[in-house]
Amino acid sequence: MDLDSSEQDPEVKKYSPVCVGREDDIKKSERMTAVVHDREVVIFYHKGEYHAMDIRCYHSGGPLHLGDIEEFDGRPCIVCPWHKYKITLATGEGLYQSINPRDPSAKPEWCSKGVKQRIHTVTVDKGNIYVTLSKEPFKCDSDFYATGDFKVIQSPF
Ligand code: FES
Repeated sequence: MDLDSSEQDPEVKKYSPVCVGREDDIKKSERMTAVVHDREVVIFYHKGEYHAMDIRCYHSGGPLHLGDIEEFDGRPCIVCPWHKYKITLATGEGLYQSINPRDPSAKPEWCSKGVKQRIHTVTVDKGNIYVTLSKEPFKCDSDFYATGDFKVIQSPF
């Protein structure tokens, strides 16, 4: 039996794919923003791959859709325009450079803080782009700006 979307279990509905636009359009603009079940996300098209993540930076809520994409340690990252934090497009890890202060000859090395930005799933069907929200059951730092009082888009309910 097909359920009308208004009759679906809210938890099931929250994780259903949402069409956010056309493939042709994002290939031209290389990024787009969307609201997926009340959650603001940014979708990037970079070197033939799609990536979706929470739009507000995990550090202080900076607008990631306005950042530049650069590679660090061979990993494409979005660089937050506010304080230049680097977030990997593929995994949402925060990257930073570290150096051993006791070794004067040491070169800085790229390290990961772990997953800080929640990544969502992008699928393409018949030229349409769909985003499915992440169900990963861990607390991700970017959740803070995507939910609750700091959320930019507030549901009227
Ligand atoms: Fe993104 Fe500070 S808000 S680096």
